[in-house]
Amino acid sequence: VEKSEFIQEIVRRNPSCIPERYHRREEDKAKYVDMSALAEDIPVLDLTLLSNGNKEELQKLDNACKDWGFFQVTNHGIAAEVLQGTKKATADFFNLPIQEKTKYSFHPEFKTGYGQPFPVAENEILDWSDSLLLLLGPSQNRFPNFGSCCKGAVEAYSDGIRKVTEELFGCLSLIMGLEKDTLLGLHEELTTVMQMNYYPLCSRPDQVLGLTSHTDLGTIAILMQDDDVTGLQIRHNEGWVPVKPLPNSMVMNIGDILEIWSNGKYKSIEHRAVTNETRERKSVGLFSLHTPQWKLNHWKTSWLPKSVVESTKRSSMVIISKGQSSEGSRGRNTS
Ligand code: SIN
Ligand code: FE2
Repeated sequence: VEKSEFIQEIVRRNPSCIPERYHRREEDKAKYVDMSALAEDIPVLDLTLLSNGNKEELQKLDNACKDWGFFQVTNHGIAAEVLQGTKKATADFFNLPIQEKTKYSFHPEFKTGYGQPFPVAENEILDWSDSLLLLLGPSQNRFPNFGSCCKGAVEAYSDGIRKVTEELFGCLSLIMGLEKDTLLGLHEELTTVMQMNYYPLCSRPDQVLGLTSHTDLGTIAILMQDDDVTGLQIRHNEGWVPVKPLPNSMVMNIGDILEIWSNGKYKSIEHRAVTNETRERKSVGLFSLHTPQWKLNHWKTSWLPKSVVESTKRSSMVIISKGQSSEGSRGRNTS
C-alpha cells in the first residue's frame, strides 16, 4: 500500500488535522520512560584528537560505542559553510512547491527520491515526516535526476563526509584491535545513502511520531540536525534520551552491521524522532553500507536478509581471529 500523501502537504492545508493513520497506539506511547536528564551524558568526541591517535579520546570512543552506541562529533574538519549549505539545500528542497518535488518522486528500482521509501502495510501507522533519499558515491549515476535540485551542496558535503567516515573507520578499527584499514576494507564498496528528513510541526505531538523507533542498518550513520530544534531520541536502558543539537557538530551512531562485526561489543541502538507544536525540524542522515544499497532489499529496517547476515558473520569471524592474534583475548565479547 502506497503512502497516499505527503505529510508536509496535509499540515500545510490544515495544521490541526491528524489523520487516523498517523495516530500512535496507546501501548506504544507509554513503552519507555523519559530520561531527558541524561542528555548531557551523551559523549562528545573530538575527531581531530581521535585521528591523531589521542589515547584518552580513543578510550572515550570505545566507551561511547559500548555504553551509548551514539556520540556527537566536533572538530571533524567539514567547514561550517559546507554544513550550512547542505542545510539550506535541504530547506530549499522541502520549500519547493509539491509539483516540483514530485518530479523527484521515489524510484523503486533505484531506491532513491522523494516520498515513502519503504513499503508500508495496510494497517501500519505512518510517520510524521517526508524524506528525500539520494545515493552518493561510486553509483551516484543511479539517480540521474537529482542533479538539478541540490547537487553542489550535496557534493561538497559528501566529499567531507567521505573523509570523516574513513577517519572514523580507522579509529574504530584501532579500538577493535585491528589494523587501521580493516573496517574500510570490509566494505565491498563504500556506498553512502543520504536521507534528508522534514518533520512538520504537529498540533498534537503526543499522538504521532516523526520517525518510528528503529536501528540503523549498515556500519555507521552520521546525522546533521537543525541547530535549534530537538527531535532525535535514543534508547538508553529503559528510557529515551534526547540528543540535543550541538552547532556544527554531527551525531554518529553504530549500525547493525558494525554491531555484528564487533560481536555485539558495540551497540546498534534504537532511536526515533519526535515532533513538537511550534517548530518544524530537518535532518540529514548519511548511512554507510558495507554492501551496495541495491543489493539489499529492506535496508532501512533492522531486519536483514539471511544471506547478508551469513556473509557478515563470516566477515566478523575474520575480525575475531585478527583481533585475537594481535591483542590476546580482546576481540570477542558476547555480552
Ligand atoms: C534517522 O534516524 O535516520 C533520523 C533521525 C532524525 O531525524 O533525528
Ligand atoms: Fe536512524
